[in-house]
Amino acid sequence: MLLLALESSCDETAVAILRGEPGQPVEILSSEIASQIELHRQYGGVVPEVASRNHSLHLRPLVEQALQHAGVSIHDIDAFAATSGPGLASSLLIGATAAKAMAAAAGKPFLAINHLEGHLLSPFVATGVVPPHLALIVSGGHTLLLDVVGPGRYVKLGGTRDDAAGEAFDKVAKMLGLPYPGGPEIEKTAAGGDKQAFAFPRSMMREPGFDFSFSGLKTAVLYTLSERNPETGSARPEELADLCASFQEAVIEVLVTKTIRAAKHAGRNIIALSGGVSLNKTLRAAFETACKKHDLTLATATPGLCTDNAAMIAFAALLRAFEGHASPLDADIDPNLSLVAAGNAG
Ligand code: KG4
Ligand code: ZN
Repeated sequence: MLLLALESSCDETAVAILRGEPGQPVEILSSEIASQIELHRQYGGVVPEVASRNHSLHLRPLVEQALQHAGVSIHDIDAFAATSGPGLASSLLIGATAAKAMAAAAGKPFLAINHLEGHLLSPFVATGVVPPHLALIVSGGHTLLLDVVGPGRYVKLGGTRDDAAGEAFDKVAKMLGLPYPGGPEIEKTAAGGDKQAFAFPRSMMREPGFDFSFSGLKTAVLYTLSERNPETGSARPEELADLCASFQEAVIEVLVTKTIRAAKHAGRNIIALSGGVSLNKTLRAAFETACKKHDLTLATATPGLCTDNAAMIAFAALLRAFEGHASPLDADIDPNLSLVAAGNAG
C-alpha cells in the first residue's frame, strides 16, 4: 500500500509517502518538511495566523516534491492521511482539507490521524510492528506516559499538570536570552556546564502517580536569576552553561524516574521515547543507563522522526488502513483531540 500523509498541526508543513505491508518494515519513500522556525523566531514563539498562511503557501509544492522524490505519481497513491488534532485549528484545517480534497478527487480513502499517535508510534517505523510497551511522549505541547497494549489501545498513566517538558525548555531558554526553539539551544549550552551547580526542584518526583509538573522548575530558574542578578534579572554569560545544565538535569531526572516507575507498574519491559525533546542526547543517555540498570529495552525514533514530520503520521495511518479503517470526508479537525477515549483510565 502506498500512502501519502500531510502534517500541519503547528509550525512545520510536512508531506511523506510511505510504502508498507502488514507486519513488515515500512519504506519511507519521501519525507519533506518546510520548517517555519526562522519565521516565528522573531516573535519568540509560533504565531497561528502566520503559521496557517505559510502552510497553505508551502503545501502544494511540497506534495509535488514528495511525489518526485518518491518516484511515484499521485495516481499510484492508495490512501491519503492528515493530522486532525491536537494542534492549532487554523493550521490543522489546511492539511486536513488538502488531504480530503486529494482523497475525494482520487476516489481513495482518507484517514484522520491524531498527532500524538504519530509521535507515539514513531520509534517502531523501522520494524513496522508495535509491541506492548510503556511510552513517554515528550514534545513542545505534551508530556504523556501511556501503557500501550497495541496500536490504538492506549491507557494514559500520567501527564503534565502545567507546562510540557519542551515548553519548559522553550520558556527557560527565553528567560536566559537564548533563541527559539529553546530545547536544542539549552542542550548545546549545557554541554559546557556543571549539572550540580544549581539545586533546582524535582517537582512531584516523590509523589505517587505518574503526573508531572514543570512550572515550579521554570519559576525556580526565574527566582535564581533575580536573586543573583537583581539589577538585570537576566543571566550573566559565565553562569549560563551551569544554569542550562542544572535545569536540563532536573527535567531529565524527573522524566527518567517516573517513566521507569510507570514501566514497572504496567509490567512492560520496553520503554519507547518520542517527541522533539527525545532528541536530547543527555536525556537519551540517561534513559539508556536507567534501562540497562532495570533490565528494560529502550526504543527511540531516528532523529528525523522525533520532531514534527509527516512520516510518523503516514505510519500511524498505514497501521489503521491495514485494519480496514477510513475516516469520513466530513470528519472535523479537533484542536484538543485526545489520544485516549473518554472514560479510559486517566
Ligand atoms: O515534537 P515537536 O517537534 O513538536 C510538538 O509536537 O510539540 O517538539 C518540539 C519541542 C520544542 O519544545 C523543542 O524545544 C524541543 O522539542 N526540543 C528539544 C530538543 N530538540 C527539540 N528539547 C530538548 N533538547 C533538544 N535537543
Ligand atoms: Zn509534535
